[in-house]
Amino acid sequence: MSAVGGIAASPAIDRRAVISVLKRLRLPEGQSDPFPLYDELRAMGDVVPAPWGGYFVTGYDLCDEVLRGRNWLVPDVAWQQRQPDPGRWQSPATSEMSTKLSRLNSPHHTAHRRSLGNPFDRRTLTAMGPQVESHVERLLGDLEQSLDLHGTADLATTVSERLPLATIGSWLAIPESDHPHLLDITHRQVFAQELLPSKDQLQVSAGATLQLRAYFTDLVRRRRARPGTDLVSDLIRYWDAQHPDDRATADEIVYDLTMFLTIASLETTATLLSVAVWLLLAEPGRWQWLRDNPEHIGDAVEEALRYDPPVHLNSRVAAEDTELAGVPIARDAMVHVMYGAANHDPRRNPDPHRYDILRHGSHLAFGGGAHYCMGAGLARLEARTLLTRLLERLPGLRLDAPPAYAPRMVFRRVTSLKVTV
Ligand code: HEM
Repeated sequence: MSAVGGIAASPAIDRRAVISVLKRLRLPEGQSDPFPLYDELRAMGDVVPAPWGGYFVTGYDLCDEVLRGRNWLVPDVAWQQRQPDPGRWQSPATSEMSTKLSRLNSPHHTAHRRSLGNPFDRRTLTAMGPQVESHVERLLGDLEQSLDLHGTADLATTVSERLPLATIGSWLAIPESDHPHLLDITHRQVFAQELLPSKDQLQVSAGATLQLRAYFTDLVRRRRARPGTDLVSDLIRYWDAQHPDDRATADEIVYDLTMFLTIASLETTATLLSVAVWLLLAEPGRWQWLRDNPEHIGDAVEEALRYDPPVHLNSRVAAEDTELAGVPIARDAMVHVMYGAANHDPRRNPDPHRYDILRHGSHLAFGGGAHYCMGAGLARLEARTLLTRLLERLPGLRLDAPPAYAPRMVFRRVTSLKVTV
């Protein structure tokens, strides 16, 4: 890296070197530890041309600037329609996602977000606390049972994947019997949001997206028939008032919002939970240290979010011709904001590959600007609650095997985390 303390742009980047990094990121070693590869990419510059067009933004300050800047938009339907590759953007899975919050720009984005208010303000989170605790107790009971029976247990599938579903399920009043079905569909849907999905992956994703549509439109229909005090019923009332003569539009928006809230909350939080536990067990003494210093559980969660954020990459497009670190960027060009690389930028977080509970570093795990994650408070609550009770209930917890990851570049997923006592 040529400019510590400044922003570096390299004018002559070897395309083959970029392709080599991307290939290695897809290998199992790249999945389990992508950070040295991000260093390689950042060493080429803060703005690195992607082989397929567009740019990777690798440095913290520049990622932050793009996320907050008014001249950067999310790639919405209007942008997609201007692209020369209609197959990529018009596949059912992708086009279905283009009406969701994260793919809307103002004014639609503002209107949809306003209807949700601040769903996890301090008061709501305090009220949700006991419920999250009871989900944690139940799931830790299952974990202990598996440990008793087999001497080993998979924390990822027994606890991490199920806690976010139980939490969001209670909030949206989704019957527990539907949880396994929902978990399965969300894992298959995510491919459409990956960086370069294959045709096969887009097909799998398309099938899952249709299932999600079927599930959530039916949920809205049932809730309209028997309204309650849950979020879906509140949203129906809100959007009926906005469209008094057009129930179909109101229903469609409520579907968009509830479906997206659900998928946005599941894998992301599950990954945080598994990664936070893994990082604490990865080095001898850390688990015990945190047990002795539980006032730092919140710090441990923040450092896990910095060290290995559940989302590693997100995209924005230029609203007009512009420049980033001296690199000219044409209107509509796409930039990939690399949260994982940004969090490991040594200019922002010195000695970045060290997990340091007392670091109090900066991170972009929840994005930034107008699209900042709406569920950050809830995810933090779940992680703090799980760690608190795990440390109390299983003081002798140890790793039985290193974590296994799904081959992804955007949404991290720990498929298994074997633990023992
Ligand atoms: C550790 C867990 C989570 C992580 C790391 C995470 C991360 C993110 C990121 C990176 C974004 C994009 C921000 C941007 O474009 O600048 C986002 C958006 C969003 N997240 Fe989360 N998220 C998590 C959990 C949740 C939960 C639990 C919910 C809801 C219950 C949620 C709801 C949303 C929504 C609705 C958006 C779209 C906001 C918008 O576009 O205006 N997330 N999240």
